[in-house]
Amino acid sequence: MAGELVLLTGGTGFLGYTILIDLLQHGYNVRVAARSHEKIAKVWAAPSMVALDPPATQLMFVIVSDMTAPGAYDEAMQNVDFIIHAAAPLPVDLASTNGKSGLQQGQSLEDAFVTACVQGNLGILQSARDKGNTVRRIVMTSSTVAIAPADFFADAAAAAQREGGKEVIRGPDTRVSVPEPPYKSQLHAYCAAKTASLEAAETYVKKHAPRFDLISIMPSLVFGRDELTTGTDSTRMLMYRLLPQTASNGTGDGDFASSPDQSEIAAVGNAVLCTDVARAHVRALDPDVKGNQSFVLNTDARWEDTVHIAKTHFPGSFESNLFRPGGPKWSTVPLKWDTAKVRDVLGMELATYDAMVKEVVGEYLEMAGSGHD
Ligand SMILES: NC(=O)c1ccc[n+]([C@@H]2O[C@H](COP(=O)([O-])OP(=O)(O)OC[C@H]3O[C@@H](n4cnc5c(N)ncnc54)[C@H](OP(=O)(O)O)[C@@H]3O)[C@@H](O)[C@H]2O)c1
Repeated sequence: MAGELVLLTGGTGFLGYTILIDLLQHGYNVRVAARSHEKIAKVWAAPSMVALDPPATQLMFVIVSDMTAPGAYDEAMQNVDFIIHAAAPLPVDLASTNGKSGLQQGQSLEDAFVTACVQGNLGILQSARDKGNTVRRIVMTSSTVAIAPADFFADAAAAAQREGGKEVIRGPDTRVSVPEPPYKSQLHAYCAAKTASLEAAETYVKKHAPRFDLISIMPSLVFGRDELTTGTDSTRMLMYRLLPQTASNGTGDGDFASSPDQSEIAAVGNAVLCTDVARAHVRALDPDVKGNQSFVLNTDARWEDTVHIAKTHFPGSFESNLFRPGGPKWSTVPLKWDTAKVRDVLGMELATYDAMVKEVVGEYLEMAGSGHD
């Protein structure tokens, strides 16, 4: 409700920033826990933030440099009504199997992902319990990777074969056991981290019955406009991989573009629009939504359709050869989710994959300054 104070983590990232904008647009006061002043400056300078220009009484920042430190969030809890905890380390090195890039020297995949996510979740719950006597609800950003077998994301084709063509429909109450180390890649460790941190948070709430409740939002692969991006650090890059394109586009994205790679990549056909995911987090703060439940956010996507959709919306970019044939061939592995609660409880209709392609490719073309379409 307007005027209530939300403590937001991850607000300097792709999804968290979009949640922040939604919170401000809906009249909440927000205290963002960030890791650095540099990232705070980026948030203030982003286009939607400049347009909103919130007063210092509506938007505040606090530095929490290490969310795994005991009591890290204690001071940030003062007068907080709600918490949205979106911070988590994301895999930056999807391609390599030893997966060490982006990790601190000597850091294991288990520490970088599983320990960080679990300690982050437990730390925020503990601080809210000890110091947040006004906190009524915590909304945590979980993921579909937390509740599906990890091999769907590490080796989608093999996972689909394992399920033997049966149509299994998973939902917000599905739970899986935490994948055991050793982890084969950052993605594998990330899946384990999201499963373990969901389990840790739910166990904590059951055991301690705190005065606040918990809602978990479980998005699939999030696509959308990324106002904070500087290039290759965003999930939008995945979308670009679906599109054959030229290397020289002025965005600094030429590192992966357009080698005539004809390999075939199979991936789970799940996607969701970033602004929808943000809306669900903020909608979940409303008192008419009961606590201690989870929501899966997903729309089925067929990666094979991406080029056709992009061509429909941006024909000039293909005619001018900005996008051209080549690149890996993508195939879609189905992973079905029951998302009925998003409509029935949150009252939301999720955007189609067509809308995601339009938004992400449109942003790409703006960044490339292509002058087409
Ligand atoms: N992107 C997706 O497709 C997707 C899908 C499902 C779920 N999710 C979940 O959505 C949330 C946000 O992801 P995103 O896509 O927005 O990623 P992102 O752009 O990488 O943002 C991650 C945010 O978490 C912060 N963070 C990362 N590691 C941290 C640590 N060790 N301690 C404290 N803060 C840390 C980052 O801070 P800095 O800015 O300082 O680095 C940033 O604010 C995560 O919980 C992720 O698991 C994402």
